[in-house]
Amino acid sequence: MSIPQTNFLVDAEPSLADLLAARPALNMHAQDGLCFENIPLNAIADAHGTPVWVYGAATFRARYAALKTAFTEAGLAPKIHYAVKANDHLAILSLLRQQGAGADVVSQGEFLRALKAGIDPKDVVFSGVGKTGTELRAALAAGIGQINVESPAELALLSAIAAGMDKTAGIVLRMNPDVDAGTHAKITTGRADNKFGIAAHEIPALYVHAATLPGVNPVGLALHIGSQILTPAPFAAAYAKAAALIAQLRAAGQTVTTLDLGGGLGIGYRDEPGISLPAFAHMIRRETADLGVTLILEPGRYLAAPAGLLLTSVILEKTGGAKRFCVLDAAMNDLIRPAMYDSYHAILPVSPVDFQNPATQADIVGPVCETGDTFATNRALPPLKPGARLAILDCGAYGAVMSSTYNARPRAAAVLIDGMPKLITPRQTIEDLWSSERIPG
Ligand code: LLP
Repeated sequence: MSIPQTNFLVDAEPSLADLLAARPALNMHAQDGLCFENIPLNAIADAHGTPVWVYGAATFRARYAALKTAFTEAGLAPKIHYAVKANDHLAILSLLRQQGAGADVVSQGEFLRALKAGIDPKDVVFSGVGKTGTELRAALAAGIGQINVESPAELALLSAIAAGMDKTAGIVLRMNPDVDAGTHAKITTGRADNKFGIAAHEIPALYVHAATLPGVNPVGLALHIGSQILTPAPFAAAYAKAAALIAQLRAAGQTVTTLDLGGGLGIGYRDEPGISLPAFAHMIRRETADLGVTLILEPGRYLAAPAGLLLTSVILEKTGGAKRFCVLDAAMNDLIRPAMYDSYHAILPVSPVDFQNPATQADIVGPVCETGDTFATNRALPPLKPGARLAILDCGAYGAVMSSTYNARPRAAAVLIDGMPKLITPRQTIEDLWSSERIPG
């Protein structure tokens, strides 16, 4: 007979107090309730309604500074190209530009957003597995810094377009290192069966070929193995393969000056630490020390996720059936991550009374007509009255950018706290939903 095992360390979910303690930008004020960067979230909800995205400028700056410091202490100074896809708001791009960030973009729209926010086109790298001719032309015309080529077909297209425009594009070849990052299957990108990058064994011949083509100047390699990676080990395995390939290219007489290491740094979504920046930086130092290349990093989530939350109100609770359901005015159209990746987001009550009250398990759901419209299952929260406010945490990355208007739900407003809270996106109106639609005839 087997004895049932209970592993409390694995099973125990962090308490509300644990979740709060793990986040320096949040504090619970006895009267004002939950504050983000010292601004009461109640004040923001009163002024702008819910659901509303709330971003913290000081948190963005602190995380950027922490990343830079970790590398400086490891004796490195990589160029930081923020992955615009994580949060492409002009106010956020502008804020990160002021810290010294360039951009990593994956579409013409992201490229033009970066330029609109004042980022120099020379400080932009263009990634992505399917850039169109139109997108490549626009990037070349504006003087983009680097294009990360992901296939022989793209290399041929880019060479023809650039040569026709009498331009020379600085390119790197994105290698697929065939490394399993051990993250969620939908956000792993560096395995041989993922659509991204060029197989390592194809790179040497393609690099030599690129060096003979008009319109392109190969300067190095890029890789990106996935997102929300919490240990340096998978990165190290991939970077070691890149280093070996660079040695091989140089032995064949090729010039290699750049290594774009991609993004992927993971954060703690519960109360666990995210990836250790010193360990990450020292690993990069170790793997790339002798290469003498310019390093590029493309972090998105690490900089943005903890710098944003989704502030929402309870519509009602349903308690009569098999489960307790807490129905919010935010839904999967606002934040799709739990539905799409089963991802965990911490949820805190804004009211100090709610925060203290005894908790029972509830499913935290939105009003959209899909069972997948669930933010959390069996989450311990106090009983919540209609109108009670909740903060869904760590939504600064892959939150608003992935939102939709499904169920004809207008897009939420957004506020940036920079000392004071400022509205940076007004709430979409219901009329906005159909303002560009036409009924033929
Ligand atoms: N560079 C490239 C080429 C990328 O494809 C990505 C993300 C990044 C950099 C930034 O990765 P980060 O540092 O943010 O991990 N929607 C998913 C994440 C998708 C990531 C896609 N690529 C989520 O919500 O978890």
